[in-house]
Amino acid sequence: MSQPVDPTKTAAWARLEELSTGLQPDLRAWFAEDSSRAEKLTFTAGDLYVDLSKNLINDDVLDALVELGKEVGIAERRDAMFSGEHINVTEDRAVLHIALRLPKDASLVVDGADAVPLVHEVLEKVYAFANKVRSGEWTGVTGKRIETVVNIGIGGSDLGPVMVYEALQPYVQKGLTARFISNIDPTDVAEKTKDLNPETTLFIVASKTFTTLETLTNARLARSWLLDGLRSSGAIADGDDAASDAVAKHFVAVSTALDKVAAFGIDPENAFGFWDWVGGRYSVDSAIGTSVAVTIGPENFTDFLSGFHAIDTHVKDTPFERNVPVLMGLLNVWYVNFFDAHTHAVLPYAQFLHRFPAYLQQLTMESNGKSVRYDGSPVTTDTGEVFWGEPGTNGQHAFYQLIHQGTRMIPADFIAVANPAHPLRDGESDVHELFLANFFAQTAALAFGKTPEEVRAEGTAEAIVPARVFTGNRPTTSIMAPVLTPSVVGQLIALYEHITFVQGVVWGIDSFDQWGVELGKQLALQVTPAVGGDQEALSKQDGSTQSLITYYHQKREADQAS
Ligand code: F6P
Repeated sequence: MSQPVDPTKTAAWARLEELSTGLQPDLRAWFAEDSSRAEKLTFTAGDLYVDLSKNLINDDVLDALVELGKEVGIAERRDAMFSGEHINVTEDRAVLHIALRLPKDASLVVDGADAVPLVHEVLEKVYAFANKVRSGEWTGVTGKRIETVVNIGIGGSDLGPVMVYEALQPYVQKGLTARFISNIDPTDVAEKTKDLNPETTLFIVASKTFTTLETLTNARLARSWLLDGLRSSGAIADGDDAASDAVAKHFVAVSTALDKVAAFGIDPENAFGFWDWVGGRYSVDSAIGTSVAVTIGPENFTDFLSGFHAIDTHVKDTPFERNVPVLMGLLNVWYVNFFDAHTHAVLPYAQFLHRFPAYLQQLTMESNGKSVRYDGSPVTTDTGEVFWGEPGTNGQHAFYQLIHQGTRMIPADFIAVANPAHPLRDGESDVHELFLANFFAQTAALAFGKTPEEVRAEGTAEAIVPARVFTGNRPTTSIMAPVLTPSVVGQLIALYEHITFVQGVVWGIDSFDQWGVELGKQLALQVTPAVGGDQEALSKQDGSTQSLITYYHQKREADQAS
């Protein structure tokens, strides 16, 4: 295993420091001076058309960024990942989400076994199950066909499936819907089941480890809801046998821990496996996507996987100078490390992508929110920006003010598709065109701004000219695709997976572990008895926690008494 290269000690870093100090960003002038700027800085990857020209880069910066990528060994780390080396060193695991989307005739040996036949074996099992549910062959315990699939999972076992299900609504089979329960707040399970019919509801318990407190608690609550509902309507008899029959028809599971699935009471025949070389946040294209495969169907799911594979091929085979995920990852480094950008906005101009920013939060921040490198030494520069966003144009009327005129740089990715799912007209107007006009206008406004002279020329009173000036030179990337197909959604996910990887390599971190989420989980277990009224456990907590729990006890009792 190679050692991380300290990026700050490379010649490219020194060059980038020099360039950033001397750089006077002027996108107006840069576009005026070079009529081919847009063309030169627009790249394609699969069906994605990616315009980087409104970023704060010139030829020298781009060359130095590419050089940095070479000096820190992005190609070597990428090849190590693609060949199944254990690049997730703190968990001693291979990182092979790319194997999940390899075609059937490919081969990728990991830890002595070819992963590809294993992947396709599970996929076929998922597809066979999906077809049975979709055709009505798989029924609930009373013989009624399934109408609602409820995925119970959290983190990577929730965010990917819910995001993709929302993104691919036009592909969802009529008469089938999916819901997603994730939060251990009892409100979540109660609200998501309150109008469902147990006879037509199927639960998919999705958990890589099958130990996650939230998921197992929600799965037990769902099981009780199912059995109570079926018993109270007389659909099933009392007793253990009837309960097991009902669970067998209304519960399936997805996990790497099939023994734990069986212990929960779900027949391993109704369980779909995956492997420890698939990270939770990289798993929507594994059996974790079963709720998606059921609702959009195997053919569309296959198309979804082919989209990932197209970008994997692009990242593997394209020179860095045209390699979109590599360039976008390096650009993020440019802004974080040389312009002190703390956050990065992702702004989909596609309502169906409304959960994409939330999905990216886990992908990017659980991956790159680290302070040590993969050899245990401290990082040598800032890492892990905050990713956030909302669909346009909602964001425009909420937080774009800060992006346009705030004091911090906020690099932003704008995403749009040429063809809408619903081509509606408002009188003479094509509403998708009104929508896209905003997409095009916002990046232009951010790039080119509005000078004081332009503001004055509009007749603005001198006193308010400063408030109406836009500095411009606020960097954006525009990503377009013809239409939001399953393949395009797969391509977008893979694009950001590889961007995240590239940033992690530059910073020398293990982008595939997530130790930072463990301490809170441990403390929650320690605090639970105190919350439940154990005075000794309460006395062991710190002063703030004691007083918060005491407040909780007082108010909870007061509420219950009233
Ligand atoms: O707490 C973080 C995490 O481990 C994520 O990385 C993961 O996606 C999530 O919990 C859910 O884990 P599991 O699929 O094992 O239930």
